[in-house]
Amino acid sequence: MSSKEIEERKVETLLSKLTLNEKFKLLTGYFFFQTHTVPRLGIKTFKTTDGPLGISQHSSFLRRNTYFPAGMNLAAAWNRELAYECGKAIGREARAIGRLCVLGPGINIGRTPFNGRTYEYYGEDPYLTKEMSIPFVKGVQSQRIAACPKHYVANNQETNRYTVSVEVDERTLHEIYLRAFKETVEEAEPWTIMSSYNLVNSEYVHESSKLLNDILLEEWNFSGFVMTDWWATAEGDSKNKEPSQSPPEIAIKAGLSLEMPKGHLYEKKRLEEAYRNNKFTEEDIDKLVRRILNVYVKVGMFEKIKSLPKGKRNTKRHQTLARKMSEEGIVLLKNHNNILPLDIDRIKKIAILGPNANKKFGKFLYGGAAAVKPPYEITAMQGIQEKCKNKILITEDPTNSDYVLLFMGLNHDSPKKLMSDDTIDEGIEFGNESEKMDRRKLELSESQINLINKTVKTNPNTIVVLINGSPVAMDDWLEKIPAVLEVWYPGMEGGRAIAKVIFGDVNPSGKLPMTFPKKIIDNPAHKSEKTFPGVDLKVHYEEGIYVGYRYFDKKNVEPLFPFGYGLSYTEFKFDEVTTSNSKITALQDVIEISVKITNIGERAGAEVVQIYSEDVKCSVDRPHRELVGFEKVFLEPSETKNVSIEIKGKDLAFYDISSKSWNLEKGDFILHIGSSSRDLHLEKKITVIN
Ligand code: BGC
Repeated sequence: MSSKEIEERKVETLLSKLTLNEKFKLLTGYFFFQTHTVPRLGIKTFKTTDGPLGISQHSSFLRRNTYFPAGMNLAAAWNRELAYECGKAIGREARAIGRLCVLGPGINIGRTPFNGRTYEYYGEDPYLTKEMSIPFVKGVQSQRIAACPKHYVANNQETNRYTVSVEVDERTLHEIYLRAFKETVEEAEPWTIMSSYNLVNSEYVHESSKLLNDILLEEWNFSGFVMTDWWATAEGDSKNKEPSQSPPEIAIKAGLSLEMPKGHLYEKKRLEEAYRNNKFTEEDIDKLVRRILNVYVKVGMFEKIKSLPKGKRNTKRHQTLARKMSEEGIVLLKNHNNILPLDIDRIKKIAILGPNANKKFGKFLYGGAAAVKPPYEITAMQGIQEKCKNKILITEDPTNSDYVLLFMGLNHDSPKKLMSDDTIDEGIEFGNESEKMDRRKLELSESQINLINKTVKTNPNTIVVLINGSPVAMDDWLEKIPAVLEVWYPGMEGGRAIAKVIFGDVNPSGKLPMTFPKKIIDNPAHKSEKTFPGVDLKVHYEEGIYVGYRYFDKKNVEPLFPFGYGLSYTEFKFDEVTTSNSKITALQDVIEISVKITNIGERAGAEVVQIYSEDVKCSVDRPHRELVGFEKVFLEPSETKNVSIEIKGKDLAFYDISSKSWNLEKGDFILHIGSSSRDLHLEKKITVIN
């Protein structure tokens, strides 16, 4: 018997022994992060934990755990291996504290920089998002811990998140918002998925037969189970959310297996009554419970601990990985006259200023569910002090310093902490990047802008280092500042990574996973209140598929920094592109593109070779170009490499609303190859024939 058959048999045996009441119990959570048990059958509690940046303190009995850089940082690294390693390390840490499911990765699309949870996610592009989430899920599950991609689907803002309905057309839903979930399900087979709070086209996702049953379970063949987001169905978490009045059979028939963190829709009394009234059958319940049991078997709930992967937390390896991720995710946005990297042997004095210089971001629930409190956290200031010890004097006075480092950006502070009432005072400084709230402006706070302008007047060698999780505007100061680094939220080893980049031990190679607009109005989600944050609890995705760079390219809007952008301390030359086969016939086909690239500078460094496809002629409107492939390559000075990049047929396709499927239309495609979505050096034509 194959191991799959053994697993199936185990599940069926358990199912046949469960009473209907016990089955009902398994459909709901018990206490914040756990589920009910059936001790007589060895069914233990299925303990879950947040979240994508490491094991959160609030779901690990207040333990301190490795705090990894934020999702935006991981996406900015454009490195699948790091995503796998990060997932694997988080899986190990989950095991170490007896948890069986990690509530992550977060794979909602960055429709607007204002979304308070942008920092947790992987940016604006579905291809990049899935390329990060697939290895992340595989990494978590390599430890026999269930991953839980979230929040399915179109949870792209925090304002009214429990009640807002996302009004979105079919093609956009599939092409932009469902795609990363689809690919992750098909390629990484996550064992669970979390449905989102919001409604899609006026229907709660956890009650949507279309989104759960038809698309996720049937069409994509998802073999895991669906759980709700916390309190999505019940009262308790929000001022404006009434408990759901829906009868339980709607969610049962839709395919919702687990209601978290406790039963409301699936409360025992409600289930019993609906069952008595023949609203659903025991077979309907079996379908949901079978999925749950199947996952319980996969995570080894019925096996001896010894036979399972061994968990470990806070290892040197995990901490080094956190640093490496931060190093690779840092994006060099500007470097006038190669002012960076700084030469440690030639500098006497550096001034360090700014609100984020010595700020710790790994605090209890700081930023919401994704918060991780680590055993230690190296701030930017500490990292630089460590690096400069006995060599460079660190001061706060920009006047006679060789350089000034200004640590600016955002934070996770709640405005409520600062305000006595709920009104928002634009003068007040708050970062607003957090669960349950959205940002309200793209610019940095007034006082940061003033500090930048004042400092650079005093000392022209002022370098701005941004610590934040989503795009910010820079029009008020960028011209005057010679160098800018985007660090994101860099995790517990961030300070060391920052020091390494500033002093050139690490050559920056990060690339933006999200377009930085000049003004918020340039972002298509911000055309009116209707499009963000919505009117009468409906938010209209009028921009359709034109999200992020797809819009900026189509409408010819000049971004501040384009998607995929990031500088290096060296330079690369794209020499030549070849392919052994320029014809593609089916969605499953793969062709290999080979790009010859040379490091023509004097420092070793890595470049992300990016490929964007242009559909030359198509029966539907399509974006100018879309990301279809990338590979990160490390090159010594003067070294040349042939980078091999796979392009899949399915990544060239669009979602066809008439056939309700992905359509790879025949015709020519131009592949544009370069170092950002707007810096394209080579072209190659390929043809789809069918
Ligand atoms: C968040 C989820 C999180 C859950 C459990 C919810 O408020 O939206 O991302 O996993 O809480 O903490």
